[in-house]
Amino acid sequence: MDLSGKTVCIIGATGGIGREVARVMAKRKANLIFVSRKMNSMDVLENELKEENIKIGKYTCDLTDPKSIEKLAKEISRDYKSVDVLFHLAGVGIYKKLSEISFEEWEMSMDINVASAFYSIQKLLPLLEKSEKVYVIASGSGMGKVALSGRLAYCASKFALRGLMLSLAKEYRKTHIHFVHLTLGSVLTSFGPLSLARKIRKHREGKGYLDPGWLANHIATRLENESLEEETPIYPRHYFSESKKDIR
Ligand SMILES: NC(=O)c1ccc[n+]([C@@H]2O[C@H](COP(=O)([O-])OP(=O)(O)OC[C@H]3O[C@@H](n4cnc5c(N)ncnc54)[C@H](OP(=O)(O)O)[C@@H]3O)[C@@H](O)[C@H]2O)c1
Repeated sequence: MDLSGKTVCIIGATGGIGREVARVMAKRKANLIFVSRKMNSMDVLENELKEENIKIGKYTCDLTDPKSIEKLAKEISRDYKSVDVLFHLAGVGIYKKLSEISFEEWEMSMDINVASAFYSIQKLLPLLEKSEKVYVIASGSGMGKVALSGRLAYCASKFALRGLMLSLAKEYRKTHIHFVHLTLGSVLTSFGPLSLARKIRKHREGKGYLDPGWLANHIATRLENESLEEETPIYPRHYFSESKKDIR
């Protein structure tokens, strides 16, 4: 897929991964749609990319609120004729045990990590149907394949996201809409309870993290080569042995 001139919507454009995806897509001259709760952060990103001479649209949305997603879809449908690539890169990482987690935290994990993916894809479907070839790409996790202690809400939501994306991949297999579940290992961003500074320290001590810039480039190259699979695992070195995960 030639990304130049394509319309690429990034839900979670202000995140550690989303920002890097925006940067590499801008370098490839795609027109961008940013979605997050924070207009200020989207303004900063837009300003950074102004020399790329691409069209950028910015939309605020609270992914915990179905009405906000409906409003988002209405606004994007008013402003755009079609969308060629839809990234769902928003998420929340609440790592708590059963005895510690509140119902609100459980609900927030399910709402942002999976329900918002379902509902935004469903509401944007008419725009996706209008493009000749479409990719819908969601940021899943290795924890959507292997359960870990102390992360029940994150694991449950990511297992569900993986089920959603793989089901959609089957449902749409014979069409022009391709669904991709990125099964990601740890990425060096401020996602989850550990600060970015702490992760950088751990990285220096030897823990494997994917660099978000590298990851975004990798995704863009695989989009261009059309080599993204329905389930595309991307893990840092030693991901399995470090966390005692057995994902393969
Ligand atoms: N980093 C990792 O190690 C890792 C590993 C595997 C998978 N992933 C997945 O990759 C995705 C992105 O991770 P990241 O590292 O980029 O995280 P991040 O830096 O924390 O970014 C999270 C993004 O989600 C958005 N978001 C959160 N709550 C929202 C809400 N209620 N409404 C709208 N947007 C909301 C944030 O936007 P605003 O705050 O601006 O609204 C931000 O753009 C997540 O789905 C995560 O599960 C990450």
